[in-house]
Amino acid sequence: TTTIPSLHSVYKDYFPIGAAVNSFTLRSEKEFIAKHFNSITAENEMKFESLHPKENEFTFEKADEMFSFADENHLKVRGHTLIWHNQTPNWVFEDEKGDSVSKERLLSRMENHISTVAGRYKGRIYSWDVVNEAISDHDDEYLRKSKWLEILGEDFISKAFELANKVDPEAALFYNDYNESNPEKREKIYRLVKSLVDKGTPIHGVGLQAHWNLYQPNLDDIRTAIERYASLGLQLQITELDVSAFGWDDKRTDLKEPTREILELQAERYDQFFDLLREYREVITSVTFWGVNDKYTWLSDFPVKGRVNWPFVFDKNQEPKESFWKLINFK
Ligand code: XIL
Repeated sequence: TTTIPSLHSVYKDYFPIGAAVNSFTLRSEKEFIAKHFNSITAENEMKFESLHPKENEFTFEKADEMFSFADENHLKVRGHTLIWHNQTPNWVFEDEKGDSVSKERLLSRMENHISTVAGRYKGRIYSWDVVNEAISDHDDEYLRKSKWLEILGEDFISKAFELANKVDPEAALFYNDYNESNPEKREKIYRLVKSLVDKGTPIHGVGLQAHWNLYQPNLDDIRTAIERYASLGLQLQITELDVSAFGWDDKRTDLKEPTREILELQAERYDQFFDLLREYREVITSVTFWGVNDKYTWLSDFPVKGRVNWPFVFDKNQEPKESFWKLINFK
């Protein structure tokens, strides 16, 4: 493996190359991660339910372990995520009787969560996903219907940014979302982020999750999205990149290994994506894959049960795929 170049080293003049890690990969893939990546994100370990399962109980062990690993290997850390509708325990939105909590109490819980979590890791996180996925995917709806929105109103978003900024003023604060290149959703994300910028909210970046696949989105839509968000004067980060081997309506579960065609098409897609990302190196301040190699991906079993997927540039044995060589060989 000594002949395989380190991915992040090849990109040193472009952007940090990150990966989402979890307790499995932090056990078995340590050397591999430290070789190829210079930024990490917790795939689940820093979400609300992981860090703050009960009102008066914080559980920092797993996140702390990740920070030790990062420190030992000089890796940057992206924080993911403070305020989200998913993987947030029910207690947050309920009072003692199980009824919906008051606006005041929810606000003080949000404040407590953000100040405790962002405070603990203050100075060690270069970018925080402060609010995740607040925009609706439905054509006739702007903000996603969530408990945060229902109880606190639209201001929950700017409040979260203000709190995070107060606690960790050095961290770049991001709004993060998926389907970010879809024209309708793109305009809603733009509208939200612009409204935050216009009212002076401390927001510094837009995270493009980039859960892409062999066929979608098309390059023009990605380019337009990058241009549009960057026009707000913010930095951009690719936060959760994977390139699924299946199109949206492909529900096959019988493939046990990727076919030749899949590997070739995937390499072509990765080649085009990274050409585009390198072109925007002035605004793109990191690119993170949502996993380390094909052995560990949330896309195996999701959204199609029983289906294996191979979305990364390294296979399940940590070996480089054709996609990897495309990322390495550019002019
Ligand atoms: C996913 C994780 O990868 C899974 O392990 C978990 O079961 C569900 O969440 N958008 C996000 C990420 O912002 O936090 C999600 O991560 C993937 C979609």
